[in-house]
Amino acid sequence: MTVVKAENLTKDYGLNGQTVHALRGVNLEFQEGEFAAIAGPSGSGKSTFLHLAGCLDTISGGSITVGGEDISRLSGKRLALLRRREIGFIFQAYNLIPVLSVEENISFPLSLLGLGREEIQERTGRAIQEVGLDGMAKRRPKEMSGGQQQRVAIARALVKKPALILADEPTANLDSKTGREILELMLALNKTAGTTFIFSTHDQMVMDCARRVVQIRDGRVESDEVK
Ligand SMILES: Nc1ncnc2c1ncn2[C@@H]1O[C@H](COP(=O)(O)OP(=O)(O)O)[C@@H](O)[C@H]1O
Ligand SMILES: [Mg+2]
Repeated sequence: MTVVKAENLTKDYGLNGQTVHALRGVNLEFQEGEFAAIAGPSGSGKSTFLHLAGCLDTISGGSITVGGEDISRLSGKRLALLRRREIGFIFQAYNLIPVLSVEENISFPLSLLGLGREEIQERTGRAIQEVGLDGMAKRRPKEMSGGQQQRVAIARALVKKPALILADEPTANLDSKTGREILELMLALNKTAGTTFIFSTHDQMVMDCARRVVQIRDGRVESDEVK
């Protein structure tokens, strides 16, 4: 099944009266179960593409479907539901809520889904185990290393059991050993749960771990290689 399909997708930003063409006609399709990297230099449009696929921003032209839904045709409310149920997002800077503990950060998206208390506790506990953070449930983000914080962010993304996890340079702030561990964790989750991962990077080690590498440059797809 197709999870994300972009056709002639464009995105322009207005900046100080000028227009920045961040995506200039992108055609890309991602299937269920993929573990794909979007690679390219800084400013090439990686984050822009992930934000559009994650329903975090509006498109300028062309189309993008996520889970079969044309996102430009959805109301704000339907879009929020799609994002909440189907998509997990992992950011370069972790984006955890500092005043919440590990388990509160992870369970927060589940409370938005309206699940019962027991199921929330059960799923949160399992996610903490899956990312290797046993015994850290009560800690705050600032009491943890960068790699541990990114594990919390991964647990927060996967606890919803989303069809799709988008990760924007998930290893960029980590040393290479920790970055590799995070990537191996993502790969294990892709294999066991079948979760589709699309992540951006400009790190060769991360590209080497991907099964597919899409190179973008100046808002265009330059190459698309399945290994
Ligand atoms: N909110 C914004 N306003 C104006 N320009 C932006 C905005 N976000 C990104 N851009 C520009 O769009 C282009 C693509 O940016 P981005 O998608 O962040 O690239 P990457 O993630 O590959 O570094 C860059 O030229 C960037 O400066
Ligand atoms: Mg970026």
